[in-house]
Amino acid sequence: MASLIQKILKQARTTFSNNTEVFNENLFKLYNLMDVVTSSDLNLDISFAFQDSETQYDAPISYITIYEDNILSMSIFVLKSNKVVPLHNHPEMYGVIKVLAGKVIVDSYSLNTPKTFEAEIQLAITQEIERVKDTVQTDGPATADVSTSTSTLNQDVEEASNMVDVSLQISSPTVDASTSTTSTPNVDFAQIPNQNVIPLRRVISAEFDGRNIVDINSKPCILKPHESNIHEIRSVDGPAAFLDILAPPYNTEIPYVGPRICSYYANLGSVLKDVFLLQEINSPSFYWTDIKPYMGPDPTVEVE
Ligand SMILES: [Fe+2]
Repeated sequence: MASLIQKILKQARTTFSNNTEVFNENLFKLYNLMDVVTSSDLNLDISFAFQDSETQYDAPISYITIYEDNILSMSIFVLKSNKVVPLHNHPEMYGVIKVLAGKVIVDSYSLNTPKTFEAEIQLAITQEIERVKDTVQTDGPATADVSTSTSTLNQDVEEASNMVDVSLQISSPTVDASTSTTSTPNVDFAQIPNQNVIPLRRVISAEFDGRNIVDINSKPCILKPHESNIHEIRSVDGPAAFLDILAPPYNTEIPYVGPRICSYYANLGSVLKDVFLLQEINSPSFYWTDIKPYMGPDPTVEVE
């Protein structure tokens, strides 16, 4: 008789290898299987994460590979107490996450929403104004055409501001975990690093979906190519572990784009209510993993 992890792998392969009209139905079947998986199904023992011998050589997070092919990856993350998988993306990927032990706080963000489009229009207009102002200051009196442009752009900004009710001040985001509400918007667009100034480092806008406290009794979390695609996961009240299925896996090829690389982000602040600017950064130095062996049932199934 197939083990639960075999059933999960088989369903995951079915789900993510057939992008058809039955995709959502298959994803829901996978979701239901993930909903009932426990640490004992995977013979997972995280007692090592409770050991209190923190040195600079102790990884804050352990990574356990269960399975990977060109369709999906299946792994377990074990976090020591109050450790963070920093804010990161999953380029054009799906993900299903189920907490197996402990409790985590998940902050997630969506991409390409109506609100992020509003923010990007506002940002583009404001940066254009700054560019024009710089040109005016640099080039001196040849200002007749430029000032006309500035005037037109200012009108555009005013219209956009009326449309989206933007406040142009800056601060860090704050979240009340109990209510999942965010601070009011407050970024000075002119302070945002221009992508031309920091080559290869993107600034993107993302809409905050909320903060969820997730434990073994919670439903699985699902991320999609745009929906809830960026997240940060933090263990609270002790160590925690979660099962993570990603499809396609990192480092596979995105057609016409390139390798599917994981990017990390710093949150620069909000630009509209619930919309934040995220600055791509190097992987934070506090985040690194060691590798632990998978001790559970063999998930491999015959795939027809
Ligand atoms: Fe992730």
